Amino acid sequence: MITATFVLFVVFSITAHPEFVEINGLGHSGEEWKSRIIYQIITDRFDRTDGRNATCDLRNYCGGTFKGIQNRLDYIKNLGMNAIWISPVVANIPNSYHGYAATDLYSINSHFGSAQELKNLVKACHEKDIWVMVDVVANHVGNTNEDFSKINPFNKEEYYHKKCIVTDFTNQTELEQCRLYNLPDLDTENPWVRNQLAEWTRWLITTFDLDGLRVDTVRHVHKDFWRFYVEAVPTYLMGEVFDERIDYLKGYAEVMPGQLHYPLYYTLIDVFARRNSMYALRSTLDNMKSSGMDVALLGSFVSNHDNKRFLNMDGDWNILKSAYAVILLGESIPIVYYGDEQGYAGGDDPNNREPMWGSGWNEAHHLFSFIKKCASARAKIKVNDQLIERYVDDSFFGWSRGCVFCGVTNKGSWAGDVSRRITSHPFSEGDQLFDLISGARIAVGPDGFICTLKSGCPVILVKI
Ligand SMILES: *[C@@H]1O[C@H](CO)[C@@H](O)[C@H](O)[C@H]1NC(C)=O
Ligand SMILES: *[C@@H]1O[C@H](CO)[C@@H](O)[C@H](O)[C@H]1NC(C)=O
Repeated sequence: MITATFVLFVVFSITAHPEFVEINGLGHSGEEWKSRIIYQIITDRFDRTDGRNATCDLRNYCGGTFKGIQNRLDYIKNLGMNAIWISPVVANIPNSYHGYAATDLYSINSHFGSAQELKNLVKACHEKDIWVMVDVVANHVGNTNEDFSKINPFNKEEYYHKKCIVTDFTNQTELEQCRLYNLPDLDTENPWVRNQLAEWTRWLITTFDLDGLRVDTVRHVHKDFWRFYVEAVPTYLMGEVFDERIDYLKGYAEVMPGQLHYPLYYTLIDVFARRNSMYALRSTLDNMKSSGMDVALLGSFVSNHDNKRFLNMDGDWNILKSAYAVILLGESIPIVYYGDEQGYAGGDDPNNREPMWGSGWNEAHHLFSFIKKCASARAKIKVNDQLIERYVDDSFFGWSRGCVFCGVTNKGSWAGDVSRRITSHPFSEGDQLFDLISGARIAVGPDGFICTLKSGCPVILVKI
């Protein structure tokens, strides 16, 4: 009797345990990732553990490690993040601190630490409910002067496309068949190459207990490959299609539904950094809706390692805050690029890849505090709460999601206060509202309320 009860209990526990329910998937699904906020890290640039303080050449290794990230998880958690995306982890050609020029897919880059240290990092993250996304590359490997014997497992010339270099970035054939910056281009039409890439990726996820992947250079590989890969690697994949066109992105989202939201990124530059009309934000949001893509599966961002930091394009803090408010209170999965919260303003690569230790990880920085407040506001919103436009004109955009109202302007800090009467909102007459950013209180009257952006700073209102 005791044995029978015990057996029943075990069977019940197994079926009730989420790890067993998800037996057909790896890591976490896109649906699960929708509730996350991602912090993007270049491992080499985040924190060192050797105590040295040498001058850092941004074109080479600067000394950051997995253990360095692990030591800073409280900082990341305090910022309101619950996932990290780290740069590629596998062995690379010399000086390839960024990780996008692999030599051995089955070795961990020793500059960052050992395989065990990567496992330790993931485990420490999971203990703090931080998910881990690793960057992977299927398009190319590192350039070893055409000596393919140095590449594992793609150690023969036959595994690559014939040598040509992408020069015309509008020619899709060239993008897919030729080399990006002379990086040997894997023949992803070759079934052996395909299977190896899928097998390696599954090994990477299961060995290191990863929660998802960021997928590099998606538009440089034929969609047929991605159809195969998405089935072979059942986890959340966030693809990089470096292009502003919504219809072009849609072509890839039909194959791999998680993508970086480049169309929104270019719109944020247009309306904030270039101070163009806020109607452009309305059109991008509307056009994305009508495209049929699941916007909530996309990763939205303001800065990243491939572009000048936002603050480099426009040094106004309230402009940066406005752009961050749009992604942090929007429908996509927000991504905060390390250092933006410390006011980093680096220009083109590699200047946008500054070492984080210069900042002292200052949790009192007003940008840190702003992002943290936005993240706490996002926590009040349900994943399925739609973004509802509430007010738009050339210099103001107001929207709500669930019980949260946000207002932003492209006027910046020097144009004084920007006020609009908001008559369409999620509140009721008599409600008292609290601005999570400034701490101001306002009452909702019969004609709504006045939303005042002081010196162009965003407002995020919730009912008290
Ligand atoms: C590290 O180097 C920076 C820049 O040279 C310097 O400002 C800082 O004081 C140094 N820190 C330590 C602990 O030596
Ligand atoms: C695109 O590139 C391919 C390969 O280099 C070339 O054969 C083709 O003519 C190009 N197409 C156009 C329209 O330029």
